Amino acid sequence: MSPILTPVKIGRYTLKNRLVMAPMTRSRANDDGVQPDIAATYYGQRASAGLIISEGVFPSPMGKGYVHTPGLITEAQNSAWKHITDAVHARGGLIFMQVMHCGRISHPMLLPDGATPVAPSAIKPAGQAWTDAGLQDFVTPHALSATEIAAIVADYRQAARRALEAGFDGIELHAASGYLPEQFLSSGSNQRTDAYGGSATQRTRFVLEILRAMVDEAGGERVGIKISPEMNFNDIADANPQETFTTLVDGLHGLGLAYLHVALFGAQTDYHTLLRPRFDGAYLIGGGLDQAKAEALIDEKRADAVVFGGAFLANPDLPERFRRGAALNAPDKATFYGPGEKGYTDYPAL
Ligand SMILES: Cc1cc2nc3c(=O)[nH]c(=O)nc-3n(C[C@H](O)[C@H](O)[C@H](O)COP(=O)(O)O)c2cc1C
Repeated sequence: MSPILTPVKIGRYTLKNRLVMAPMTRSRANDDGVQPDIAATYYGQRASAGLIISEGVFPSPMGKGYVHTPGLITEAQNSAWKHITDAVHARGGLIFMQVMHCGRISHPMLLPDGATPVAPSAIKPAGQAWTDAGLQDFVTPHALSATEIAAIVADYRQAARRALEAGFDGIELHAASGYLPEQFLSSGSNQRTDAYGGSATQRTRFVLEILRAMVDEAGGERVGIKISPEMNFNDIADANPQETFTTLVDGLHGLGLAYLHVALFGAQTDYHTLLRPRFDGAYLIGGGLDQAKAEALIDEKRADAVVFGGAFLANPDLPERFRRGAALNAPDKATFYGPGEKGYTDYPAL
């Protein structure tokens, strides 16, 4: 049998296999950030994963960065998510919610009353935001005050509580891909002179404060974190990413987190060798895997579980395909982001 299809303990759960569905934004929520009924079908179809990580969910209206992404704030948003977690549980699956605050990777057109996006420092990123009116240049963000930072940490805490109320089995902090947490981690976007900027230790403070708040609500065994060192997506730049990420992972010690999820995309450094020995919980590897690469990672005990994005999007029955060594459906990029069922709930199972 494929080593990917053996059970594994992650945090408080025993997963039925080591195949994790990556968090994937699908932009099918309505204008109010409420998921449609077909989202329950989509996630339910993928419940044979050992663990599903939901698409990024904004913890406050200021965290939104893309049109038609979902929130977990209002009654309507929360009850739509309950419908989704029920569908996954009815089919024997587990699902964590990914909490995603986009920070400066947003636009006033996506924010309440045309507000200015927030960031550690007032440094405009290169690139454009997806809005209802098409692509719009990013703007110079508002640099958060210490009081405003504390309020955002409180928003993450609330999101953790609401996620559990909505039936999620745990929460993943999105600290990858150049969104607000990574904006704090990285020296290019964080030029603060207070306790949240400067040394690597100070740049990790924001992420660790969020995790402590989430762990207070859910217990460490229901909290994970995703990072993507050297992905340099969304105009992220850091003078010394090795130092930043080893300092961060050393800082996780004592939180009792369920897992560390590391997605690599062409990094120059072998971060898995660098980071895994520093972390006590389960180690998840993602980014560009296929069945053979993933099996080698498990066989060689380099990862406890493997994370698949595009392949899970296009193959609702991915574990069964791996079991049989069957061919895979190819993901259709044109339908990655909404609306509708096409490229969402209509990928065929075997
Ligand atoms: C359509 C799409 C949406 C994505 N949205 C998110 C997201 O919301 N949060 C996140 O952490 N990563 C997101 N990712 C990245 C995936 O989680 C994963 O890291 C990436 O797809 C690499 O895995 P793969 O090579 O198996 O696809 C997205 C990827 C795709 C294809």
